[in-house]
Amino acid sequence: MTLAKAVRVPRDRAETVRRDLAQQNLLSRSLKPLRVNSHVLFPLEGDPGDIAEEVVSADFPDQKSRPRSFEDLAQVPETIRSQLPRSFDVVGSVVAIRLEEPLLPYREEIGRALLAFVPGVRTVAIDHGVQGVARIRSLEVIAGERTLVTSVKENGLTFTVDLGGVYFSPRLAREHGRVAALVEDGEKVLDIFCGFGPFGLTILRRNAHASVVSLDSNPRAIDLLLLNARSLKVDQRLEAYCQDAAVFLEEERSFDRAIMNLPREGYKYLGKVGRRVKRHGRLHFYGLFLRDQRRTADQEVLSALSSPRVQNAWSLEESREVHPYSPSRSLMTFTLRKDGEI
Ligand SMILES: C[S@@+](CC[C@H](N)C(=O)[O-])C[C@H]1O[C@@H](n2cnc3c(N)ncnc32)[C@H](O)[C@@H]1O
Repeated sequence: MTLAKAVRVPRDRAETVRRDLAQQNLLSRSLKPLRVNSHVLFPLEGDPGDIAEEVVSADFPDQKSRPRSFEDLAQVPETIRSQLPRSFDVVGSVVAIRLEEPLLPYREEIGRALLAFVPGVRTVAIDHGVQGVARIRSLEVIAGERTLVTSVKENGLTFTVDLGGVYFSPRLAREHGRVAALVEDGEKVLDIFCGFGPFGLTILRRNAHASVVSLDSNPRAIDLLLLNARSLKVDQRLEAYCQDAAVFLEEERSFDRAIMNLPREGYKYLGKVGRRVKRHGRLHFYGLFLRDQRRTADQEVLSALSSPRVQNAWSLEESREVHPYSPSRSLMTFTLRKDGEI
């Protein structure tokens, strides 16, 4: 038991008083309110000073277990408590949470509750969604350290990422590992929309005899790619360019394998990237498709690569869902083999 000062109020005024105490940061975070007959006792944090309510001293049971959810900790009005999200993302030391409009005035309180609830977290941010051509998540820090730079681990590798400056999706980890495992000794690989470079970096770490050319138009992505390449000691086999894909594709260079992960707009570069792949080489293309039209998707990708001059220049080795993207659409991956020169 812990002896603490508490505010004693009749039950019918309990919610109003609780809200006022929470707004003034007076409500204890470690002790739970007690119901005693027709009254509620709210344990206080520190000295309440000049307060208009009855203040008493009382014994409160120690909280033995961690709260079951962060909702137990977040001090928001009961009327909107049901709108607290049931889930949130944890990326390295950062929690990203989506909040409905009515919860926004309580963002700091919710942030503090998440900092206290999630072990190892140093920053909490509101997730306003992915925006723009660089596909960067708009994150508003609401509690903890004012940084969105963190370390993430995938396929046994540690990467430094800047969640406010580059694209990052924890749902691509398996795909990075799967593609890297297909790369054979001596291959020269193009990762043309590389972000901070997880495909290329994973390939270089897995295969000591492969080399990678990585390209992205976001300068922050290329900075992080180089930083990670140095810390993983693969920078000697990496060429990195901060450039627009359209400019790079004007160059006459060829590759054993190309990776194109720009799901919304990748189509418009498909033909040109295809021409940069050597005969018998592979192309990994990512696109968004309606889930019930997966067969049509295969045909669409093959015809975007086809040329009127050469019949059957490409064959499809594999296509499958990477993960659901929306209720009706999926992110799909296509592995294509170049059988003839175009
Ligand atoms: C979906 S992200 C790919 C991330 C990365 N491949 C991964 O697996 O995490 C797409 C990337 O393409 C880049 N991008 C978009 N348009 C581009 C263009 N025209 N030229 C070069 N890079 C571009 C964006 O900056 C972004 O980093």
